[in-house]
This record gives sequence, C-alpha cells and structure tokens, in this order.
Amino acid sequence: MKDAAPVTIHLKDYTPFGWQLSDVHLTFHLAPRSTRVVSKIHFTPNPEAPAQDFFLHGEQLTLIRAAIDGVDVTPEVTEDGLRCAVPDGPFLWECEVEIAPADNTALEGLYMSSGMYCTQCEAEGFRKITYFPDRPDVMSVFTVRVEGDLPVLLSNGNSVQRGDGFAEWHDPWPKPAYLFALVAGDLVNHPDSFTTMNGRKVKLNIWVRPGDEGKCAFGMEALKKSMRWDEEVYGREYDLEVFNIVAVDDFNMGAMENKGLNIFNSSCVLASPETSTDDNFERIESIIAHEYFHNWTGNRITCRDWFQLCLKEGLTVFRDQQFTKDIRSAPVKRIDDVASLRGRQFPEDQGPLAHPVRPESFQEINNFYTATVYDKGAEVIGMLKTLVGDEAYAKALTLYFDRHDGDAATIEDWLKVFEDTTGRDLAQFKRWYSQAGTPRVSVTEDWADGTYTLTFAQTTRPTPGQPEKAPQVIPMAVGLLNPNGDEVVPTRVLEITEETQSFRFDELAARPIPSINRGFSAPVVLDRDSSSEERAFLLAHDTDPVNRWEASLLLGRDCLFAMITENAGPDVAWLDGLERVLRDRDLDPAFRAMMMGWPSQNEMAQVLFERGVTPDPDAIFAAQETLTQFKAERWADLLPSLAAEGTVDAAYRPDADQSGKRALGSAVLALTTRLDGGKAAQAQFESADNMTLQLSALGQLVRVGKDQDALAAFEAQWCKDRLVMDKWFGLQVGATAPDNVVPRATALTQHADFDWKNPNRFRAVLGAMAMNHAGFHRKDGAGYALLTEWLIKLDDLNPQTTARMCSAFQTWKRYDADRQALIRVQLERLRDKPKLSRDTAEMVARILG
Ligand code: PHE
Ligand code: ZN
Repeated sequence: MKDAAPVTIHLKDYTPFGWQLSDVHLTFHLAPRSTRVVSKIHFTPNPEAPAQDFFLHGEQLTLIRAAIDGVDVTPEVTEDGLRCAVPDGPFLWECEVEIAPADNTALEGLYMSSGMYCTQCEAEGFRKITYFPDRPDVMSVFTVRVEGDLPVLLSNGNSVQRGDGFAEWHDPWPKPAYLFALVAGDLVNHPDSFTTMNGRKVKLNIWVRPGDEGKCAFGMEALKKSMRWDEEVYGREYDLEVFNIVAVDDFNMGAMENKGLNIFNSSCVLASPETSTDDNFERIESIIAHEYFHNWTGNRITCRDWFQLCLKEGLTVFRDQQFTKDIRSAPVKRIDDVASLRGRQFPEDQGPLAHPVRPESFQEINNFYTATVYDKGAEVIGMLKTLVGDEAYAKALTLYFDRHDGDAATIEDWLKVFEDTTGRDLAQFKRWYSQAGTPRVSVTEDWADGTYTLTFAQTTRPTPGQPEKAPQVIPMAVGLLNPNGDEVVPTRVLEITEETQSFRFDELAARPIPSINRGFSAPVVLDRDSSSEERAFLLAHDTDPVNRWEASLLLGRDCLFAMITENAGPDVAWLDGLERVLRDRDLDPAFRAMMMGWPSQNEMAQVLFERGVTPDPDAIFAAQETLTQFKAERWADLLPSLAAEGTVDAAYRPDADQSGKRALGSAVLALTTRLDGGKAAQAQFESADNMTLQLSALGQLVRVGKDQDALAAFEAQWCKDRLVMDKWFGLQVGATAPDNVVPRATALTQHADFDWKNPNRFRAVLGAMAMNHAGFHRKDGAGYALLTEWLIKLDDLNPQTTARMCSAFQTWKRYDADRQALIRVQLERLRDKPKLSRDTAEMVARILG
C-alpha cells in the first residue's frame, strides 16, 4: 500500500544477489487462516556479487521463528522483508511463517478459490508465501511437502511420496520462485499420457472441480498437440515425469506456466461445445500451447530480471502464434493477430502508457504485462526471423537453447545468438527493444522509363520519457502488381535502416501497383496517399491475404470518415469490391467472414483523432449503424447463399474449417437481422445446439432490443455454469445500444450472481461496459463514473485487476474537452482514494501524465 513516496526500480541498477541457493525445502501445513510455511535453505556466498546486507523479500507474513545453522535469530522485519546478520561462509537458513490464504483477495501468493488452495507467484507473489530472495535470477531446486486433509495435494516436479494427509514433490530443475506452485483441494482429474521423442512416457492430468470433468478433453488434445509440435518444430522435449494443469475460477490473468504444474483461469482451459464458442476453443488451444511452450522459453531459460519479461513472453507468444498457424489457417491467424495488435497494442504505444518492449523502469511490475511486452515483443521476433531467414532463425534458436539452458538470460544474450549465427550487427535492430512508440512510415513513389522507385521515410513520435527517436530497422515486405492484376515482382523484403531510403525496381513494362508491408511484416503505421481505385484494385487482386484485408479496411475507414465528417453516403465502389470477394467460393469462409468486418468504433475514433478531427462517439456509432443497414440492403440477395455456406450440417467440431463456416454464418446473421428485425436470430437461438450459434443469435437479439425472453431463457438454462454466465453478463452490456449500456451495467452489478470479487465476473460487466465505445463514452460521463466507482471498490481487494482495468482511460486525450474534463475528475478521484494500491497509483499517474 502506498504510504511513502513510490519507489521506481531501474534496469541500469541491476546487481546480482549476494548468495546462491543450492536447495530449498518447503513444508506447508495448510489451514485457511493459519497456514504454516517452514523453509530450509542452504545459502552460499555468490562470488560474482558485490558485498551486501542479507535481505529476504517478505510481505504480509507473520514470522514465527528464524534460525541460522540451528541457532535462533531475531531478524529486523520491515513491511517488505527482513534483514539479518549472517555468517561469512555458507549457512543453513530455517524459517517458519504463518499466512492466511482464505483472507487473500489479491489472488497473489497462496490463496483460496472455491474451497481449493492455489498459488500465483509471478511476478512477485512468492514473497507472500515465505521470506525469500524473490527475484528471477535466484534459481534453486525445490522439494516441497504439503500437509493437509485434502484428497489432492500438488506441487511442481515429480511426485516423491504420497500418504495419508501429505504429499511430497521434488522438482529437479533449478527454478526461480515465481515458477513455484501449490494446489490442494477436492479435485478430479482427466488423465492421459504422452510419449516423448525419446520414448519417455509422461503422465498428463487436467485437474478440475467435480462437475467439470466433461470439459477437459479438448484441452488435453491441445496439450498433446503442443508437446508434439515443440518437439517437431523446435526440437524441445518435455523434461519431467508428469505435467499437471489445474483449472481455478478466481485468477487475475489467463494462465500461468509454473514448472510442471500450470494453473489456468478456468475460462482458459474448460471447454465443451454446449458451453464454449469456436473463439473460446481456439483461444484455449493457443493458451495451453503458450503455457506449455514456456517450459523451454521461460522456465529452462528464464529472465535475469523483470525488465527482460519480453524475453520469455514475446518469444512464447511468437511460438504460440506459429503453432496456431500450423494447425489452423495461417492467413486467418495472421489477420487476427494484426487486428488485435492494432486494436490493443497501437493505442498503448501511442498514448500515455507507451513503454519500450523492454521497459527501463517501473514501480509495479504487474503493470507491465502488456500488449507491448507480449504482442509487440512477438512482432519483434517475427521481424528478426524475416531479416535473418528461416534457416538462420532455426540455428539461432538451437544455439539459444544450448548456450542458455539453465540461465536467467537477457535481451543482450538473445540478440547475441543471432549475431553469432549470422554475423550480423544487431545494434540498430535493438532499438525495437528500447524505443517506445509505433514508427510511422510514409511512402512516396516515382515512375520513369521502366523504373519504379519507392521512397520510405520513418519517424516515431515522442513517448513518455523519450522525446527523440532514432531510425529503426524495418523489414518491409513488398510485392508489385501489373495493372492487369498479375504479380510482376513477387514479395521481396526491403530493409529500411535510414530515416529516408529509396528502393528501385528496373525494367518494368508498365507502372506497377505496390502492395506494401505484406503479411504486416513490420508493426508500423503506413502513411500513403493511395487512391480508392488502387485500394479497390488490391482488394480484388492482391495475392497477399493480409493486404487484401487491409485494402478493404482502408476503404472502410475512408468511407466511415466521409460519412462522419461530410455526411457522405456509403462508398458503393468499396462495397461492390467486397461483394465480389464474398461471392468467391474459392476463398476460405473464415477469410470472407473477416472481410465482412470493418473498422471498430474504437479504431475509427483513433483514425479521426489522427486526422485532426475530435471523435464524437455517438456520430461514429450512428455511421456504423447506417453503414450496416446499407450493406444489409445492398447485399440482400447475396445473404441467403452466404448463410447456406455458413451452415454446418456435420456434428460439431471446433476445428478451423467448421469455425470458419460458422464465423461466416454469424457475420451474415448480423446483416440479416437488420432486414428481418431478429426473426432469423430468434430461430437460431431456439434451435442452437452449440454455444457458438446460441451466443451469436443472442448477440443479435440484444442488438435489436428483442432480448428480454431470450436473456431470461439463457439465464434459466445456464445459471449453474459460471463461465457461461460470464458470457450472459458480458453480452447484454457489450452488445446493447449505447444508451442502455450504463443502466444495464448498473443493474447487473446488483444481480445476485454478480460476484465482483471474481475477476472474470467483474470484467464481464465492467470490462464489457468499457469496451462498448459509445456506451462508455456517453456525454454525461456516467460510464466513467460507474467504472471508477467499482475500481475504487476493487482496489482494496485486488490491486492487480484494478490497475489493469484503468487502461480503459488510456485513450482519453482523443476526446473533446468536456469528456476529458469528466475523465480527469474520475482519474483524480481514483488517485486521491485513501490507501490506493501501488499498482493503481502508478497506472493513474501515468495516464494523467
Ligand atoms: N506468465 C503468464 C503467461 O503469460 C502470465 C501471468 C503473469 C499470469 C502474471 C499470472 C501473473 O503465460
Ligand atoms: Zn506467457
């Protein structure tokens, strides 16, 4: 809690810990309000560290006893740890503390969720379990004994002994404390096994609360696919006798890669066709892969300090994206990732929360588990791979695993393996890690005598703490098309390193049409004055699916821009071009479904702001409505055949093929509803036998305000299923008309099942409200006030989730003076709250600027 002035931690101040830990023995005597944790640790002076006091982190612990080499000692205990005089040489540290997991509402450290004990230690939660050097570069071999009268007692590594009321676990791989985990409770498992590339049989389990056994099969298949994929693509084999996954209902994040004992937010692992949508299935598959892949990128090779977070997260996101591309549709996955980068990371990088992929300072590390660290971090690795080529990438990764296995490594180590494999100097490339902000690349072109020249100019605007930016290395994938639509110059990667740089293409018969930043080869904003004819041409002919989608998106932006600012009508040429794509049965239904999307309201707000127009959320909403209605009418003849293509007759499978069809079907339903007022949606709602169809129908009924009966029926059907009820809470706020958003959110916070201490449920209502652009930004500020009221309430209990949700305000400088004033009042109200957490205080201060 923030009493004194906030402390800022700097990358440049890194110093190694003064001791090494050969082994750690922990014993847990579990009790909801009086768990005893006994630790025995052998400390040996670290010859590479400067002399320092012996300090162990510890928060909210009651010290019962401490001893050095068997003799009781009395350490000096402070709010954040303890200090103690210690011998010069090696010594044995013994310590006993008491903690109260049942009172732990922050969901960090050891806590309880629906009667079960579980832990969350990343980033700095272990210090709430016992006194310890809680930093990722301190690694040790853990042996854990859990005592408690519960049927299932789990920890990291391999099971050593199991008896009445106790279990012992040993993890042979040295690890930092943030990867520690313990789970205990009345759980049931879904067992399976996997035989590794070297023929070792590994036991696999997914542990869930009784009643959820039927929702594990899909996750288990995803786990086995991930294990095989990491062997085949990266040569990485699993390294313990057992791999456990546990589902918990109360969890701040998606999931956690604890060694051999991954803990998942139940929403990110439990799945069944009746209760989960196609999107849920895909997300679960990728999160299971992500956490599993951390076993090598994160656990076997971890981070030296938390500034290096992207070392494990950027790389692991990159790997899970590759995995999804391999087992589903690569173009569709890439478009998804680009859309989410632009929807979540770009606003962060262009606002008050902008920070480098490797930040240089922080107050609370929990605030840096961001889209920038994760998703831009993954893009940076993608660019590196593009620059060095697939083969060199594979070699560099092999070297990385060989050289750094068992290390707590840095971004310097990571880049060095690429330099050593390729002989390239990556000093300039490293700016991607140190400079915040989205580079803007403007493109001009020249055509004379068969020579076509593209000139690129890059700039990056100032970001907090970084007024000046130097040019970055930008791998720009470009292809050229003939006026007849043929590709004359296939994709080639231009390496931009200068502020301004030109590239020539000779001996062309006609002036080509360029397709630039193919595959979104660099995470930049492209500034290019292209005509709508040219965009329409690329929409029709580009061989690169990402740029084909991009062409339509740009046309959509311009169309909405003109509708909003000039009262123009919809752009018919664009819609006709799009129609031709939609009619092309050779194209993947999933791709066509994506083409039917258009810039979100949030994205349009950003576009308007960039073009010097203050966004009016109501006007954006109105333009979207007009456009949707117009599309529906214009394509009325096309919709039935598309709907037929979007219908699946076979038994439900959550695979790419079926989900693509259903995605098309649901995009069509959104238009059909504009014509029939909800008849088709009602019919689909009534006949649906899977959650994808049921929920997309319900969404349309909410949109047109014919949702009363359907919402009641849905609630009656699913009131016992927590995860489905999260959808019910979220959808009626997220999909309803702007005027209803705040009243509905308010009413739902009074619903008997609004368990606001559960992060999933809190986000379902308040998060959905903040995501409903026009509803949240209503003129009178009621959306801002409601969110703030709840953030103030949640901050006392759960600082981490509160702080993350403050980012709803990060775009506030886009809006008009009145709205800014209303937001400022709320931000200041939050800032001035007594006992504001360090997490929230840092976020609010950064947003206020
Ligand atoms: N390391 C987790 C992941 O990305 C995320 C996480 C961070 C979970 C902090 C909990 C707390 O997979
Ligand atoms: Zn991760």
